[in-house]
Amino acid sequence: MSRKPIIAGNWKMFKTRREAADLANALAASVGTYDRVEVVLCPPYTALETVGQAIRGTKISLGAQNCHWADQGAYTGEVSAGMLVDVGCKYVIIGHSERRQYFAETDASVNKKAQAAYRHGLIPIICVGETLEERQSGKTESVVTAQVQGCLKDLPPDKVAASIIAYEPVWAIGTGQTATKEQAQEVHALIRKLVAEMFSPEVAEKIRIQYGGSVKPQNIRELMDQPDIDGALVGGASLEADSFTAIVRFE
Ligand code: PGA
Repeated sequence: MSRKPIIAGNWKMFKTRREAADLANALAASVGTYDRVEVVLCPPYTALETVGQAIRGTKISLGAQNCHWADQGAYTGEVSAGMLVDVGCKYVIIGHSERRQYFAETDASVNKKAQAAYRHGLIPIICVGETLEERQSGKTESVVTAQVQGCLKDLPPDKVAASIIAYEPVWAIGTGQTATKEQAQEVHALIRKLVAEMFSPEVAEKIRIQYGGSVKPQNIRELMDQPDIDGALVGGASLEADSFTAIVRFE
């Protein structure tokens, strides 16, 4: 088994183009040739082209934070998967909990967006995770199971094998409260088991599963030591070159 670790920075709604260029240039210098980990930067739409230029010729990849499920059309304010490929994206985050919470994203829309990504050769980073209330009432397993089954329903196995799932417990996002390595590993193992049941053991063996939620230089190592944790989706700590570099170079 050899799943290459993948660490992505989710910049959310932060960074003007100038700020984005500064950060991307700093990361191009600090981790641009590092190849033990696949590095992905997901700036806001307005900075995609700028960041793409800054990382050109490096090993760093570009990702977006959302896309629409249609190839084109009268969807004011939306951006299609094809447009993201056109601007240089390789990845797209889909179903982030903030989009589920504030923009009515559902497992069904995530499923349609994953299909749109595949049609255009974009690799989705599909996010799942339970809320604090769900964890406290013992529903983590059933919530994550329903999300994985709903998001991945009827998708082509070979595409799923090349995709990324991000397990992000909602209570750990931006709160400074990381899941323990045991809590994270338990859910990652569940997700891999679900993928094996839905597709095949081979697909489950290949798919990379990131942990997200208050990942920092101080906790990345113990998370990455877990057998089913293949990377991280990093929010706050990806906004500074020093902290994101330390996370990427965790070894
Ligand atoms: P955080 O965000 O690292 O700031 O907790 C993670 C995410 O929302 O992807």
